[in-house]
Amino acid sequence: MSSETKGTAEKALLRVLRGEILSPPPLWLMRQAGRYLSEYRALRAEAASFLDFCYTPGLAAEATLQPVRRFGFDAAILFSDILVVPDALGQKVTFEQGEGPKLAPILTDEDFAKLNDEIDLRRLAPVFETIARVRSALPPETALIGFCGAPWTVASYMIAGHGTPDQAPARLLAYRNPELVQRLIDRLVEASTSYLLRQIEAGVDAIQIFDSWAGVLPPHEHDRWCIAPVARIVAGIRPHERNVPVIGFPRGAGSWLETYAARTGVDCLSLDTVVAPDWADRSLPRGLAVQGNLDPLALLAGGAALDRAVAAIRDALRERPHVFNLGHGILPETPIAHVERLVELVRREVG
Ligand code: CP3
Repeated sequence: MSSETKGTAEKALLRVLRGEILSPPPLWLMRQAGRYLSEYRALRAEAASFLDFCYTPGLAAEATLQPVRRFGFDAAILFSDILVVPDALGQKVTFEQGEGPKLAPILTDEDFAKLNDEIDLRRLAPVFETIARVRSALPPETALIGFCGAPWTVASYMIAGHGTPDQAPARLLAYRNPELVQRLIDRLVEASTSYLLRQIEAGVDAIQIFDSWAGVLPPHEHDRWCIAPVARIVAGIRPHERNVPVIGFPRGAGSWLETYAARTGVDCLSLDTVVAPDWADRSLPRGLAVQGNLDPLALLAGGAALDRAVAAIRDALRERPHVFNLGHGILPETPIAHVERLVELVRREVG
């Protein structure tokens, strides 16, 4: 097959994750299905709870497709949540309206002993059904991204039992009882690996590992709680025959991004809002794809600030495989017109 024929057959997102430079770059947005869309709010009202919503394939598939239909993004991301993994490990998880997640905290050996030894993939059957439905509804050029939370980020919610500004409860437990935290992390490495392999079997094209709380770890803890567990997950899904590429998002990793990229073996680094894209281009291994990293507040603000921010990111990353995205999730207050403007800015770039 000539490279040209192959190029047109393969989805733009996958070409870039495998190391090609494309202009314009593929585009999708973290948390692109969500409350900034009126059609999402209407759909959300049909389910009693957020987890019911995630576990109803008809609703979750529709939520996954909504932003692709509206904006023509190059990728859909499975509509689910990182906290379905603790749920399928037997920890009670609820989402209170306006308050975020609530879990029964794991602080002692007795709390840990209540978890299942293995993830209950039957409980997650609706997620795999959602993937199959989305797969058959997506245009052929649109990639489907599956995901999980990184063990440290998921553990930080399992330990605290709710969202916190700095995940202090998990950091404190990691100092006081590192053996317990290690057992929890090991359980999550195994659970996440099995879960991702099932997502791949159900039809996702790429995986993103969200480590939203990597940045709260002190230097001597990066490797143990963040890099090593993610490296084990990547190694665990690599042998799959479809060789699905992996995007790592170690939010806040800053000075240890290079080490994270080298040791985890991810195919693409998703950059948070404070990483300077020109620094990333100079410092990261040549040919490694990067994703990001528009400030969600610049998108909310729109106008000249948005235009400037988009141009600065593209100027810095023109010589590198780049997936255009935000540096963190889209904010619920974001005007639709600003997302439309972003699509126009990114897509009007010509070769
Ligand atoms: O569009 C997509 O990106 C796909 C779906 C998705 C959701 N959550 C849906 C969701 C994805 C990929 C996530 C990831 C996620 N969930 C992360 C990592 C990414 C990040 O933003 O840092 C984290 C830390 C969570 C845990 C979580 N889920 C919290 C803390 C909250 C409450 C805060 C909030 O944003 O509302 C959620 C709820 C949640 N997950 C919502 C959505 C659309 C909002 C709930 C609702 O609509 O009722």
